[in-house]
Amino acid sequence: EGGAAGDGGFAGVGDIVHEGLRNLEYRGYDSAGVALVGEASGLTVAKRSGEVNNLTVPDVPDASLGVGHTRWSTHGPPTDANAHPHTDCVGEVAVVHNGIVENHEALKRDLADHEFTSDTDTEVIPHLIEEELDADSETTLLDAVRAVEDRLEGSYAICAVREGEDEIVVARRGSPLVLGRGDDATFVASDVTAFLEHTRDVTYLEDGDVAALSADGVEVYADGESVDRGVETVTWEADAAEKGGYDHYMRKEIHEQPESLRQTIAGRLDVDGGDVDLDVSFPPGFLADLEEIQIVACGTSNYAGRYAAQLFEELSGVRATVEIASEYEFGAGRSPDRTLVVAVTQSGETADTLGAVRRANAAGARTFAVTNTLGSTVTREVDDTAFIRAGPEIGVAATKTFASQVATLTMLAVAIGRERGALAAADARPVLEGLRDLPGAVQQVLDAEPTVREAATEYGDSEAFFFVGRQLGVPVALEGALKLKEISYDHAEGFAAGELKHGPLALVTPDTPVLAVLTDGSRADETMNNVTEAQTRGAPAIGCVSAGEEYATLDVSLPVPDVGLVEPLVANVYLQLFAYHVANDKGRSIDKPRNLAKSVTVE
Ligand code: F6R
Repeated sequence: EGGAAGDGGFAGVGDIVHEGLRNLEYRGYDSAGVALVGEASGLTVAKRSGEVNNLTVPDVPDASLGVGHTRWSTHGPPTDANAHPHTDCVGEVAVVHNGIVENHEALKRDLADHEFTSDTDTEVIPHLIEEELDADSETTLLDAVRAVEDRLEGSYAICAVREGEDEIVVARRGSPLVLGRGDDATFVASDVTAFLEHTRDVTYLEDGDVAALSADGVEVYADGESVDRGVETVTWEADAAEKGGYDHYMRKEIHEQPESLRQTIAGRLDVDGGDVDLDVSFPPGFLADLEEIQIVACGTSNYAGRYAAQLFEELSGVRATVEIASEYEFGAGRSPDRTLVVAVTQSGETADTLGAVRRANAAGARTFAVTNTLGSTVTREVDDTAFIRAGPEIGVAATKTFASQVATLTMLAVAIGRERGALAAADARPVLEGLRDLPGAVQQVLDAEPTVREAATEYGDSEAFFFVGRQLGVPVALEGALKLKEISYDHAEGFAAGELKHGPLALVTPDTPVLAVLTDGSRADETMNNVTEAQTRGAPAIGCVSAGEEYATLDVSLPVPDVGLVEPLVANVYLQLFAYHVANDKGRSIDKPRNLAKSVTVE
């Protein structure tokens, strides 16, 4: 998302905006569009699904303002109509938007006499602006955006333009916006990479800020008052800027988890009411008669599924199984019409998982996808979908999508449990409080990164690494080991802690650290007994421990904030950081590990 404002007739506003979108395309977006404003030409909009290069930016010689957007769909599939910018009924106002307008359905009901042309939450914004402008001919775009802002719930960043006005009006609440201060032009974008070739002088907006940009400069307002947000000079090169200043996308994505988790839960939790709204509905009676939930997925998504299976049993009161998608068959002795098959797939394109979905469909089961990718193949083959809204993930090793998958599946488990009458509101509430507090808890873990980094340096050269946990700690142990082996190329294995003594203990030496999940939901005391068995054989032990608990014999103790059933998921963030720093100390190709691909489209 971004825009540029230049002097009247400023050469090539359209090209500058198009180039800015190309600079953001490394994130792999699914649609793109621009809106250009010229004194004589008025408002010109062009948008379409697909890559930025698919978009033909119209030639508008007198354009002095432009905004553009690359979309990663969250509401409505990637189609031409759903691409941004969105306009009002008369085509006078155009808006691009990042984030989610949580109350868009209620706002749409208030706008009953407006004609909507897309399935997006965004489209309510230009229509609300139109209402403000229509109410009083003196109202400016700036006034209108300010008024509309008060009515929007959620986290977002907006850029708006209006025919006949020579300013871009922008607003930020929760999603990033940065202004670029050129000599004869002003820029705005969600990320400095968009305009780095034009200026390195930037102003970061703060939450709640509204700003008006013109060729001459910027006016920033907070609570209606004009404020000075200062100017900083960016020293990063474009390559580093794409990664937000981090050395690798993986580390950036690990650090994005508080924000991506906020998007995952946005507008979906009713903590007081003990309920969840995932915007999916099952046929009448289906959930009451449900006998089994079968989860199919590969790799990291399979581990998210293993986490969820335990929650489906505990919260939804349904037997739940997990299968590696490539191994899945609809087994004998089951009733397809009483089975829900849940495919968990970040990309929505994994061939093994699609194969499993097809076998489930052929058997007559109801199918459900949990994915990050609107419009992906899996969404077209299942009966229902819940999106995890983690935003694009570029690092081959999955990090933020795992967290958002588990959070989404936890919400699904609560939703099904509540609808089946298997879960009382009072019992759902603590789970929902844990989800609500999850972004903050993950932030606390990220703040403790220096401790993990030290542990990675101290133990990183070991011969092998063992990860253990019980219950919800098992999928996290498996995921911790997978992450480490993928990016560091070290030998790492995850086990149910109780299994150590049934074989793997033979491998334990002072040169094989054990990393343990010792939180709520993972039978911490019993797990610690197994860790002690390994320590007795000389193994160093690193534990992720619920805040307030203490295991004095651990070599490294990493505190996990109190969030109940999602504590093991928070512990996983420590394991992500551990894997990252071990691999980074070894100079590995972290974002593109050898032999691996982001999306595995062969069986
Ligand atoms: C590991 C990883 C893979 C994927 C697996 C499934 O870091 O990313 O194990 O989880 O290939 O991919 P999706 O979720 O796209 O089906």
